[in-house]
Amino acid sequence: MPALPTLFADLQQGDLPLHEQLVRALRTAILAGQLPQHSRLPASRALARDLALSRSTVELAYARLEAEGYLVRKVGAGSFVAIAPRQTPPRAAPLRAARALSRRGEAMQASGSCREEVNPGPNFGAGQADALAFPGELWGKLLQQRWRREGERLMRYGDPQGLPALREAIAGYLMQSRGVNCDPEQILILTSSQQGIQLAAQLLTDPGDCVWLEEPGYPGARSAMVSAGAKVHPVPVDEEGLNPVGSLPAPRLIYCTPSHQYPLGMAMSLPRRMTLLAEAARHNAWIIEDDYDGEFQYDQRPLPALQGLDSQGRVLYVGTFSKVLFGSLRLAYLVLPHALMTPFCQARAAVDGHSNQLLQGVTADFIQGGHFAAHLRQMRPLYRSRRDLLVETLASQCPTLTPIHTGAGLQLCALLPPGEEARWTVPANRQGLGLRPLSDFYLTPPDAAPPCSRHEGWLLGYGALDNASLRQLCRALGRLMGPGAE
Ligand SMILES: Cc1ncc(COP(=O)(O)O)c(C=O)c1O
Repeated sequence: MPALPTLFADLQQGDLPLHEQLVRALRTAILAGQLPQHSRLPASRALARDLALSRSTVELAYARLEAEGYLVRKVGAGSFVAIAPRQTPPRAAPLRAARALSRRGEAMQASGSCREEVNPGPNFGAGQADALAFPGELWGKLLQQRWRREGERLMRYGDPQGLPALREAIAGYLMQSRGVNCDPEQILILTSSQQGIQLAAQLLTDPGDCVWLEEPGYPGARSAMVSAGAKVHPVPVDEEGLNPVGSLPAPRLIYCTPSHQYPLGMAMSLPRRMTLLAEAARHNAWIIEDDYDGEFQYDQRPLPALQGLDSQGRVLYVGTFSKVLFGSLRLAYLVLPHALMTPFCQARAAVDGHSNQLLQGVTADFIQGGHFAAHLRQMRPLYRSRRDLLVETLASQCPTLTPIHTGAGLQLCALLPPGEEARWTVPANRQGLGLRPLSDFYLTPPDAAPPCSRHEGWLLGYGALDNASLRQLCRALGRLMGPGAE
């Protein structure tokens, strides 16, 4: 056994109490094999003398190590090391975190996850709902009522598929307002649309399978597909939405945003919806329809969901409460073809069990009590007026920007002449404007042969901006880009 004092060279140098430092030093020595199993430790009096500690400090440390199972102490015989050293990899080959990941883990890390900005100030961040306009007091009352009625039951574990009351409320709303064909048994409650897209990628594609994504398109979908090991293929969008023309590789899965293309903002035309369904049938592929903000349609009656036109059970419809209620609620849902229900529920249970039961109950009450419809009636004109104000103010303050008309949502896309996006994004964001460049949404790198003409511009969120902030941000951008700038 090495002379014990040399093991404690660092003793009396840290902030921890002395007995704690002694415990740590002995534990480390035992685990590293410097104090072998069954070896006898010095008597507490002798060790205290050698280390210039009080005997009670050593006694305290020995007692702790005995309680933790590192030592056995026998009256009259002494204290003995109880365990064998742990197996550690040779020092020459330290385990590096990157090498410890699976291939899937590495793909996930490389996929560039999709994160929303935390606590953004007033800026052009896209997809933000107006939290101040949310009926918080009413929500609080409903929460209390649910808690009083069923709090104890809702604190227990729940059904991975989701609370029946919420599934019924969602099915009723979707059939009536979004033209989705479904019954409550086809609805799976989730934490987020992102979780729905992830589950679909994991359950419906094998590594190397081809997935069609809109170009430009939603980075969250790209990240889910890449994480699953799928091969993503960019398919151009035009003014009618995703346009599957030319010789495209056969997809196993197609992801699209038909109500409000993300990020450009157009709605997919009816003929294009029929073409897409026919293409999916030809390739025996699944379609994910991401209807992330379809509740906010302003100018005309929205087209019914793609899912409602599907007679073959190929469309998985994803909806979320992130935009229509609030983002941190973390409630979303998938409407699934009957054949996929069991595997998706099992996969969801395997991933994280289920969503918060109490909040599912409150959301169900909010919908069934008519408050959801009332909230939409209040928010639609508010968001529409913000969109109109943004278009008007951009025209006067930032004439180099050309907004693409959008009849829906919480953000719009404004195009820029070539070279301007790269020139202005960084200086504008240095001033806190929160601009998201369109180049972020393209799969194809800028220097590769594009499958479609490439746009430059920004995605500008207006949902969470009151009129004064909106005008102020446009003025700041106008000043930055105006004549004589730089
Ligand atoms: C196209 C699209 N789908 C889904 C989402 C996210 O919804 P969730 O918060 O439910 O994951 C967003 C968020 O901005 C989005 O832009």
